[in-house]
Amino acid sequence: MTEEHATLLQGGRVVSADGEYDADVLIVGEKIAAVGEVEAPPGATVIDVAGCRVMPGLIDNHTHLSMPFMGMMSSDDYNTGTQAAAAGGVTCLVDFAIQREPDQLRSALAEWQGRADGAAHVDYGFHMAITNANEATIDDMAAIVDAGVSSFKLFMAYKGELMTRDDAMTACMERARDLGALTMVHAENGDVVDLLVKRALHAGQTDAIHHALTRPEFVEAEATSRAARLSEYTGASLFVVHVTCAAAAAEVQAAQQRGVPVSAETCTQYLVNTIDDLRRPGVEGCRYICSPPLREASNHEPLWDYVQRGILESVSTDHCPFTNEQKARGLENFSLVPNGLAAIQHRLAKLWDEGVVAGRITPSQLVDRTSTTIARRFGLEDKGAIAPGKDADIVVFDPSAPRDYGTHTSFMNVDYDIYDGETASGSVRHTLSRGTMVYDQGKIVSEPGHGRFVARAGAAVGATA
Ligand code: URP
Ligand code: ZN
Ligand code: ZN
Repeated sequence: MTEEHATLLQGGRVVSADGEYDADVLIVGEKIAAVGEVEAPPGATVIDVAGCRVMPGLIDNHTHLSMPFMGMMSSDDYNTGTQAAAAGGVTCLVDFAIQREPDQLRSALAEWQGRADGAAHVDYGFHMAITNANEATIDDMAAIVDAGVSSFKLFMAYKGELMTRDDAMTACMERARDLGALTMVHAENGDVVDLLVKRALHAGQTDAIHHALTRPEFVEAEATSRAARLSEYTGASLFVVHVTCAAAAAEVQAAQQRGVPVSAETCTQYLVNTIDDLRRPGVEGCRYICSPPLREASNHEPLWDYVQRGILESVSTDHCPFTNEQKARGLENFSLVPNGLAAIQHRLAKLWDEGVVAGRITPSQLVDRTSTTIARRFGLEDKGAIAPGKDADIVVFDPSAPRDYGTHTSFMNVDYDIYDGETASGSVRHTLSRGTMVYDQGKIVSEPGHGRFVARAGAAVGATA
C-alpha cells in the first residue's frame, strides 16, 4: 500500500465556527489528520501560512451552472464555474438540477450528473428542482433521495416556466416530509409579478430598473409567509432561498417563533448591492437583474442583523451568470433579460470586507454562515469544519493581500465583473479540496474531474438545527 502524502499548513490562524486560534493543520491524503502544534512528518509538503486565516472551505449551496433558463444557458459550466468557486475559496457546491418537462426527476438528475462528471474542480452535490409536480414526479422523489439528493426546490415565481402552484407545492412538501428531505422555495408571488410586468410593459416601462419595480418587497414577503404556513400545515422542513429584504426575513423569524421548521439564507449581493445598480445605463443595468431583485440600501443593516443573529442562517451566492451578449437580449424589454448574477467567486472577499472588517460579523460567524451551518443543513457530513477526520477542504485567506476585482482576476465565464474597479482588502491564497491544491496564488492548478459528487444524507431539519 502506498503511503498517503502529507501536507502541513504551518503557522496560520485557524477560524472555526466557535472561535479562532493559532494552529498548524496536518493533512494526510484527503483528510485532516491533526490540528494544533504539529511537527511535519518526513516527506511532508510544508506550506507557510503565517499571517493567514485558515478556514474550512466555503460551501455554496445555491448555484446554477449550465442552467437552461429563459431560453438560454447560464454561462459557467462545471469546469469554469468550479474554477471560479475555488478561486473564491469554495470547496463544495450544491447545484440545482432542474426537472424539464416532460422529463421526470431521474432523467434530470442524470443530465446534471453528466454535465458535472469529469468536469468539476471541487466537490459538488445537487438539489432537485421540481417544475412539473405530477403523480409520477412525486413518485420519483424517493429515488432522488436514494441517489443522495436530499433537498427539493420549488419555484413560487417564473410563471409559465418554472412556477409551481400551491396545490402541487403542498403535495411535494408532504412527500418531502415523509422522505426526511428538505423543501427549498424561491419565494415570490409569481401571479402578482406577472400582472405587474404586463402592466409595466404596456405602459412602455422597459428599462432594467422596472424588473425590480415589478417585483416589490411585499411580493416576496407574501410568498415567504405562504410557504411558511404550508410548512406549518404539512410539517415539512422548509428552507427559504435568497431572502432579500427585511420584510421577508421578518416572516421567517415570525414562523421560527411559532416553532415552524423554517430556515433561510440570503446572498452576498443582497447585503452589498442595491436597486440603484439596475439604474446603470444599457447592458450594465441588465447585469444586475436577478430575482428576487436587489433592494433599497435600507435593507442592508436589517439583513446583516438577521445574519448576525442566525435567523438568516447562511449566505450563498445564487450564482447564475450570463454574458453581456445574453443580458443584452433584454435591452428593449427587461422581462427578456436572463435573471441571475455572476457571484460565485466573490462571497468570501466581500463578506470579509463588508462583514468582518466593517464589524458586522466575526470571522467565526463568517465561517459558520458560509460553511459550517451549510454543511449541517444540507447533510454534507465530511465538510464544513477543520477537525481531524473531516475532508481537507481548506481555504487559506490572506487578510492583508489586496486584490482588484475585474475580468483579469475573475475565473467566471462572463465578460464583465459586477465589482469591477473595486479592490478587496484581502484575498484567497490557497484553496485545497480533499488535500489537493486547486487554487494556488492566482492560478488554478488542478485538473477537471478532481471534484466528485457528494451523496448527501437526509438534510438536517428543524428551525434551529
Ligand atoms: O435571478 C436568479 N436568481 N436567477 C437564478 C434562478 C433563481 O431564481 O434562483
Ligand atoms: Zn430563485
Ligand atoms: Zn437560484
